[in-house]
Amino acid sequence: MKVWLRRLAIGLGVLAALVFIAISGVYGLSAAAVGNNHVGKPHPFNSAIGRVAEGERLAAMYGCMECHDRDFGGKLLIDGLPFARVPSSNLTAGRESGALTDEQFEQAVRHGIGADGRALFVMPSAEYVYLSDQDVADILAYLRTVPTVERALPARKFGPVGRALVVAGKVQFAPDLIAATPDAPRLARPSGTDPLRLGYYLTRLCTGCHGPELAGAPPMDPNAPPGANLTPAGHLKNWTREDFLNVMRTGRTPEGKQLDPQIMPWQAIGQQAQPSELDAVWAYLQTLQPKPSPVQQ
Ligand code: HEC
Ligand code: HEC
Repeated sequence: MKVWLRRLAIGLGVLAALVFIAISGVYGLSAAAVGNNHVGKPHPFNSAIGRVAEGERLAAMYGCMECHDRDFGGKLLIDGLPFARVPSSNLTAGRESGALTDEQFEQAVRHGIGADGRALFVMPSAEYVYLSDQDVADILAYLRTVPTVERALPARKFGPVGRALVVAGKVQFAPDLIAATPDAPRLARPSGTDPLRLGYYLTRLCTGCHGPELAGAPPMDPNAPPGANLTPAGHLKNWTREDFLNVMRTGRTPEGKQLDPQIMPWQAIGQQAQPSELDAVWAYLQTLQPKPSPVQQ
């Protein structure tokens, strides 16, 4: 992440120089985008249906625990001023502004807008936009049982480079990404008896890194490998179901590569997913048409 930020900062040095000339203009122009004036279209849901144990599993499988820290108290994810400083939020009742309400939680997770009306950055709401009411309720029910954490985190801040990138349209906030896929529906969680639909549902969570069509995508950090092509134009065309299950459980591919769990979250997914879920993902991937990757693999 830091390397990515440094490259961005160098690559946009010219832009940065302009920023210093027109600094007040840029601050003015970026104020709305980075400010707290965003309004979501909340989808009311019944949080009473939430199941704590299932929420615990999903919070690990969907990566919430990775980014929001193991105790969900939040941590500094990007410390890259003059680009940006972005902590993940405290999701426990120990938050400075008080425990998240149902509405605030749903608005952040599925619409990418924070409790204070800011457009969220880095938070992958564009993937969670599909989550069912049941999944959202389960995760919230679990988070309401975790011990309170009071952690002093610095406020989110966009520096001059970050602000210039915002004005140049190079910074995409979660609501921008969601707006780019206007058809993204909230889905009901399909049952295991409909593996293809369940596989489609679960692979929405892979699209942020593997691309909207799962054919591959550039990495966030230019030193990291790109998201692999999961269509039959990639390695998977030669894999069996057992190969796939083995990759998701051990990170070791039939081609002999050991996947880094910090880059490809096979541990979180493989340890938490039920066998029927991994089977469903595999069944769905099998239905994809071969598609060349938009990035070199
Ligand atoms: C890739 C990292 C990442 C993952 C995965 C992630 N988050 Fe976040 N989340 C963030 C960051 C960073 C912020 C703060 C963004 C900002 O301030 O712009 C955030 C903000 C939030 C907020 C807003 C809270 C507030 O104070 O307004 C909620 C709620 C939230 N996340 C819940 C979740 C849940 C639930 C999951 C799992 C389903 C999850 N997050 C997964 C990084 C992540
Ligand atoms: C946080 C980003 C991220 C998410 C989320 C993610 N992946 Fe990956 N995945 C990667 C990257 C990057 C690679 C390539 C790693 C490498 O080449 O070392 C990869 C590699 C893979 C591979 C190996 C492919 C090959 O050709 O060797 C499989 C299989 C895979 N991912 C499946 C999935 C599935 C299924 C999901 C969703 C359930 C998923 N991934 C979610 C980032 C991600």
